[in-house]
Amino acid sequence: MLPDFVATQVDLTPYNTLALPARAEFLAHIQSIEQLAALIRHPEFAGRRRFVLGGGSNLLVAGDFSGFILYMGILGKRWIGEDATHIYLAVAAGENWSDCVAWTLASGWPGLENLIGIPGTAGAAPIQNIGAYGVEIGDFLQRLTALDLTCGKTRVFDVRDCALRYRDSLFKREGWHLCGRYAITEIVLRLPRKWRARATYGGIAEKLARDGIQEPTPAQLAQAVTALRAQKIPNPRQLPNAGSFFQNPKVSAEFATALLHVHPRLPCYPQPDGGVKLAAAWLIEHAGWKGRNLGTTGMYEQQALILVNRGGANYRDVQNLSRAVREAVFARFGVSLVPEPVVLADG
Ligand code: EPU
Repeated sequence: MLPDFVATQVDLTPYNTLALPARAEFLAHIQSIEQLAALIRHPEFAGRRRFVLGGGSNLLVAGDFSGFILYMGILGKRWIGEDATHIYLAVAAGENWSDCVAWTLASGWPGLENLIGIPGTAGAAPIQNIGAYGVEIGDFLQRLTALDLTCGKTRVFDVRDCALRYRDSLFKREGWHLCGRYAITEIVLRLPRKWRARATYGGIAEKLARDGIQEPTPAQLAQAVTALRAQKIPNPRQLPNAGSFFQNPKVSAEFATALLHVHPRLPCYPQPDGGVKLAAAWLIEHAGWKGRNLGTTGMYEQQALILVNRGGANYRDVQNLSRAVREAVFARFGVSLVPEPVVLADG
């Protein structure tokens, strides 16, 4: 018999913010490490497909899933220490990320304010190295703890072992996350005691200036970020979406220069490695897809990078729109867009 925290034939629609329909053969609602360890030892678990799920806010559910969904609901967040330069905080995987940011601010530990409002859980945050307004979680992650689902052993990954990059990590790559080898159970954040506002990116400075704020406090920065996000990103409960659907593509400096020659208004962000990141939203808008629908899906009218489910969409509908947008952008600009979400697939 399976433990009582495992349900069978579960509708996954409420478990992904794009609200794509599918069924999972088993869904385990994990609320403690002991439950996770017990499940790993269970004979039914061995050899079965498994997938570790957080808030489902960066997820493309491709269809029915035969195997175990491990829905990580382990809670707890606490101060674990400090030294001359930093504060250290441990946050369990199932904690809501944005609530965690609000907790740090209310406790007088600023630093994460640019990351407020990002949906999903703390345990999922390092998987795609969540980021916004010029900051990534990798700037503050010290280490994380994960359970190896193949043997039940605990492993600690220093941030350097996580291979964090733009919207990517060791855990997102094929063969690791998708095969469900590790379940992240806790992250440790390292916040500098010396705070500095990061207010130059993505319209924050303009927003603060409009509000007459010259030297923002952490709370004022968090408010500005919250207001900017609300303008651009629909609430998934009202309009299902998974945030940015594509990554901002990186091209060579030569390619960017040639493109800029033809499209001087294209937003470009030079990278430390010499490459140049382009604004995917701008490319999509100027390929004619901003606010345009294809069947039950569409690219959002306020932010062209956000693919929305207008009601009743399934994975195939999303794939059709994704393909149409990628083809249009490639035909007009010669740039290939890469989707951001992780795919939950059976095969
Ligand atoms: N733009 C357009 N058309 C649009 C929207 C934007 O031309 O419809 C232009 C803007 O004018 C701006 C540029 O594109 O010059 C970038 O737009 P924005 O500042 O909105 O940011 P983004 O690059 O589209 C990224 C992240 C977001 C994050 C914001 C804010 C990625 C893939 N996305 O979006 O992250 O919130 O910056 O920092 O890097 C997510 O990953 O799910 C996500 C929402």
